[in-house]
Amino acid sequence: MAQSPTVLVLDFGAQYAQLIARRVREAHVYSEIVPATISVEELQARQPAALILSGGPASVYASNAPHADTRIFELGIPVLGFCYGIQEMATALGGAVPHTDVGEYGFAELRIDSTAASSLLFEGVPTSSQCWMSHRDSVGVVPLGFVTTAHTEHCAIAAMEDPAQKLYATQFHPEVAHTAYGQHIIENFLYKIVGLKPEWTMESIIETTISAVRAQVGDAHVICGLSGGVDSSVVAALLHRAIGNQLTCVFVDHGMLRKDEAASVVQVFRNQFAVDLIDVDASDRYLSLLANVTEPEEKRRIIGEEFWKIFFEQAEAVGKRVAGNTGGTVKFLAQGTLYPDLIESGSDTAAKIKSHHNLIPFPPGVHFKLIEPLKSLFKDEVRQLGLELGLPEHIVWRQPFPGPGLAVRIIGDITREKLDVLREADAIVREEISAWDTERTVWQYFAVLPDIRSVGVMGDERTYGHPIIIRAVSSADAMTADWARLPEDLLAKMSNRIINEVPGINRVVYDITSKPPGTIEWE
Ligand code: XMP
Repeated sequence: MAQSPTVLVLDFGAQYAQLIARRVREAHVYSEIVPATISVEELQARQPAALILSGGPASVYASNAPHADTRIFELGIPVLGFCYGIQEMATALGGAVPHTDVGEYGFAELRIDSTAASSLLFEGVPTSSQCWMSHRDSVGVVPLGFVTTAHTEHCAIAAMEDPAQKLYATQFHPEVAHTAYGQHIIENFLYKIVGLKPEWTMESIIETTISAVRAQVGDAHVICGLSGGVDSSVVAALLHRAIGNQLTCVFVDHGMLRKDEAASVVQVFRNQFAVDLIDVDASDRYLSLLANVTEPEEKRRIIGEEFWKIFFEQAEAVGKRVAGNTGGTVKFLAQGTLYPDLIESGSDTAAKIKSHHNLIPFPPGVHFKLIEPLKSLFKDEVRQLGLELGLPEHIVWRQPFPGPGLAVRIIGDITREKLDVLREADAIVREEISAWDTERTVWQYFAVLPDIRSVGVMGDERTYGHPIIIRAVSSADAMTADWARLPEDLLAKMSNRIINEVPGINRVVYDITSKPPGTIEWE
């Protein structure tokens, strides 16, 4: 998809590179991340409007420290460097970065120097404000032509600039929320120094994507697997707007979805959007395939294999139906690949572009051209896009949900009865926590049904029933997680409701395991 103008973030291996790109995008300017070691030729070929150098490893002198080609500063393209980026700029242009013994980590008071009176970067920034520092070395001597424009208690050169060359840099991190005027500084750079306009908006993304998809597809037919998750739903809504009935969506209900979920997907896409939707109820087929299977990986394998079998059967049927304009096959497959799946990291050369295309196990002889309309977007942007396209909140804000669904939340073998019990308990957990967590601070919450029974007493009766485990975690990316500190009253309410409303459940426990050592799911 042609995106212009673009600000390229040169990734020196910082955990902040994605954050920088997101901040630029929040200013409605398109931004992408490239490895810091990108060649000058490749860089020029991408015709960036500006460059931002990210933070990175502790020292520019470290033997394995990544370096940009110094010619990037001679291209006439405005450059802004943060943290490691200021040190890289200083050393490349003849300044000095002496080793210091005192690092600076955390909050610091940023003092703007009087030399910055006419600095466009600091226009509108008060002489004193809070910033965020995370460095050991710092610039000791600025390169020729530069002036120092800010300092902190422990850092004499907290910012420097050479406005004539449009080169700017800060030792602090404007991209983190702890820097009070960080976004303001980034916007000063984009709008006042580079001269960009805030034109990258959801409407412009929709427009650009629609024309790109139309150009790619022509009058051919496209098939899209719909799971009910946000990514595939946004792809479907977007493609439907682009190519209308040249799109067929396939929704395979494996019977392991949550309460009312399958009906809601069908309602939204068939009734609200009038998408050509093939809705396959495969729950019986799955239940018989999964009978007596208890091993988690075996459950996943069976569910995955069967899903693709059904999907490709349907794709073939669609191909026959639309044979008129495609010669009997569907040429295009749409999928919801996101930008983070594709980013090449500057530090981790082993983790080059993921071979995500290979994740779809195409049967022998089957070929599709892929349409990936979300591949330049972050997850939160995909959500905004979904809302803009008119998708309901419950789809746009749907929590991550494993492909094998409730099958990996029922420990042991799976039966229709267990699925029904878990669905009811899970619906209560979701209803109660979502009513409390209006700001969506909890990453994921759900119920798990283990394969054990315990003794209890209800009324005058002895019971011997199953427990329900409540799992609720806070997390930023699901790589690590902590159990959510839910209020006691909320836990009590869920426990009472589950035991009173779900037959067969006589005990409720709360999982207080973080990840690691636990995982978020139980299987
Ligand atoms: P774990 O259990 O590994 O889960 O801590 C991390 C995140 O991934 C989700 N998850 C899955 N998502 N297919 C998916 O699409 C799967 O098989 C799968 N297994 C786990 C999980 O819900 C959590 O958000």
